[in-house]
Amino acid sequence: MADEPTRRGSDRGRSVRAAIRRELADGVSVDEQEQPPGPSDEERTIVELDHVWLAFDSPVLEDVSFRALNGETVAIVGESGTGKSTILKLILRLLVPDRGQVRIDGEDITSLTFDQALEVRQTMGMVFQGAALFDSMSVFENVAYPLREHTQMDEDEIEARVREKLEFVDLDADRVMEQFPAELSGGMRKRVGIARGMANNPEIMLYDEPTSGLDPLTTATITKLIMKLQRELGVTSVVVSHDIRSVFRMASKVALLNDHRISFFGTPEEMTGKDDRYINDFLGGL
Ligand SMILES: Nc1ncnc2c1ncn2[C@@H]1O[C@H](COP(=O)(O)OP(=O)(O)O)[C@@H](O)[C@H]1O
Ligand SMILES: [Mg+2]
Repeated sequence: MADEPTRRGSDRGRSVRAAIRRELADGVSVDEQEQPPGPSDEERTIVELDHVWLAFDSPVLEDVSFRALNGETVAIVGESGTGKSTILKLILRLLVPDRGQVRIDGEDITSLTFDQALEVRQTMGMVFQGAALFDSMSVFENVAYPLREHTQMDEDEIEARVREKLEFVDLDADRVMEQFPAELSGGMRKRVGIARGMANNPEIMLYDEPTSGLDPLTTATITKLIMKLQRELGVTSVVVSHDIRSVFRMASKVALLNDHRISFFGTPEEMTGKDDRYINDFLGGL
């Protein structure tokens, strides 16, 4: 498997769909042995933790499983120190589980080489906690950074892409491009962080506490932006958040991490409908 050059399920899905179109077009039957019909795009699992165990000095994750289907936004919630950021690092393959598998678009990434892991990571955009921009770089250079690192784009292409992404996050490119992070408000910094995360046109977006430290109005704006990204670009997202209100607006599924395990996984409606003491306490004011 390590030598397999094309590992993307999307390629597989595309070739199946192309074969079906050909069949419809000229009545030639598709060889089902060669082209097994895959799950439809909506049902494809894009991110999956499968019985993952991980300990540092003490156990952090014990038998954690959940999946995000194509285009879904899965929110991971739980008290601080329960392993939420650790899950994002496992998905990015910055960490490897002690046991279990992490699958991206069907492929187990736990045993990849460093170079293969880099390739998989490039299909993901990460918005770090606190936006984590490079303070010594302009907004332009911050957003251009992943393009310079991971693509062969020339300067004109980079500028066009940076403008496109800044505009997507509702920033006036001409105004902010030459500014430095310290000159921006917290909400603007988050937007720049999102623009940088999506610069490479990733298939998967990962957000670590995207709304922490923001006032309610800015929280609503950032939440809407994450929803727009999902709606317009069809990305699959995993969002770690404390902010249960914002989670309930944007998430298709919620994973509640408690005592090293996923104690609940389901839709927000299913979560509010649960007669469970811990969930009720966690939902608190809702
Ligand atoms: N690199 C590491 N080495 C040792 N312990 C770690 C490391 N990263 C995280 N931890 C520990 O793992 C637990 C989960 O951390 P984290 O995933 O950051 O929690 P959360 O994001 O839910 O607040 C914490 O107890 C933390 O101290
Ligand atoms: Mg964290």
